[in-house]
Amino acid sequence: MPSFHAPRGTRDLLPDASSGLNRLEGIARSLAGRYGYREMDIPIFEQTAVFERGIGEATDVVEKELFRLASRTEDSEAWALRPEATAGVVRAYVQHGMQTWPQPVKLTVLGPMFRYDRPQAGRYRQFWQWDAEAIGDPGPAVDAEIVELGYRFYVESGVPDVQVLLNSIGDGACRPAYLEQLTAYFGRHEAELPELERRRLDANPLRLLDSKDPAMAALVAAAPRIGDCLCEACAAHFAAVRTHLDALGVPYRLEPTLVRGLDYYTRTAFEYYRHGAEGQQQALGGGGRYDGLVELLGGRPTPGIGFALGLDRVMLALEKSGAAAAVEAPPLAVVVGADPTDTVSRLRVASLLRAEGLFVRAELAQRKLGRQLESASRDHAHFAVIIGDELNGGHVQLKDLEAGTQHLVALDDLARDLARAAKSHHHG
Ligand code: HAM
Repeated sequence: MPSFHAPRGTRDLLPDASSGLNRLEGIARSLAGRYGYREMDIPIFEQTAVFERGIGEATDVVEKELFRLASRTEDSEAWALRPEATAGVVRAYVQHGMQTWPQPVKLTVLGPMFRYDRPQAGRYRQFWQWDAEAIGDPGPAVDAEIVELGYRFYVESGVPDVQVLLNSIGDGACRPAYLEQLTAYFGRHEAELPELERRRLDANPLRLLDSKDPAMAALVAAAPRIGDCLCEACAAHFAAVRTHLDALGVPYRLEPTLVRGLDYYTRTAFEYYRHGAEGQQQALGGGGRYDGLVELLGGRPTPGIGFALGLDRVMLALEKSGAAAAVEAPPLAVVVGADPTDTVSRLRVASLLRAEGLFVRAELAQRKLGRQLESASRDHAHFAVIIGDELNGGHVQLKDLEAGTQHLVALDDLARDLARAAKSHHHG
């Protein structure tokens, strides 16, 4: 017999985990609404070129982690599962002419992303993100607004001690000179560079700062810093972002080596961490400004900024901090019957009540009434609806399992009575 299991790096979200994810998605939707972000959906796969161009070919995400789909003979297009949402959202912004909408266009996406990475705690091949993008506003106030939005998500979900790491990585005016310095620096240390980093040195020296290779840590720490090379406009933008964040009371720490792992960033870059867990793989979320991305994907030059928060990591952080898991709600009533074989009546009455919006279980096991009632109590149901001969006259017995009392109710009044009881007992 074959034994099947979920693919490596993926998880089945069993009901408790799934309701945990739903809760987080609910908080995200509520916040998105309050901050004026409208939810949209994009495909789970895109033309590979959207990611290669948007995220950058010499990035881990594209070079090593992209889930490329085997191409079919009928079309020569190359596809890949989305490793993140930003490139797809910007592709949609351009495709649907959102440049003609009032700017900025504030969009949000919730859903699974896919990266073919080596699985470990908090790093999966399928994981969930809450993504938010504000496209069309050069900032800096919107930068602070979005950083605060992400921060508020952690506060409302109950993750304690989250702080923002913040940096500016410059723009087309000041970054080239910095990259020259960086290339020269790493060039002097070429012999110490791991194979992948040596290959990237010419194509994308910034990526070396974001290397996951532990052998790079000391070299990175001593490398020249972008903050020392910012042009006047980038420095002023960064200062203004900080002024706004100070006013909002968002706790942040300046992190001069933070460059993020995707190529599209300009100026503001940020990540969220649990205080004391600022390791490479522990980011709860991250984002930044991408003023060149819309143009890169075929639109008019348009600034943008956004974040993506890792919902799996938020769930892990909540488990670690011992936040209460979701508890299953008990049914308001269980429909039981004196005739063990009459599952038709039990199902029919249950269906009637469910149609009225009530959470009701029908006892479908053909066992004695006593055993049916025991199982209703084990369910922590508040009521048992008992079907007997009275059903011929359109009545059932309604038993309050908590109070131990019982009375005859007309079938026509049953839903209303139960709904009223549910309200006064905070059920349902
Ligand atoms: P990112 O830093 O690649 O940014 O991912 C954002 C968050 O997704 C990470 O901080 C982490 O919490 C979560 N995450 C990433 N990879 C995994 C994984 N393999 N397993 C579990 N969680 C993971 C982006 O994706 C950008 N699109 C963010 C952005 C939006 N920038 C501008 N707009």
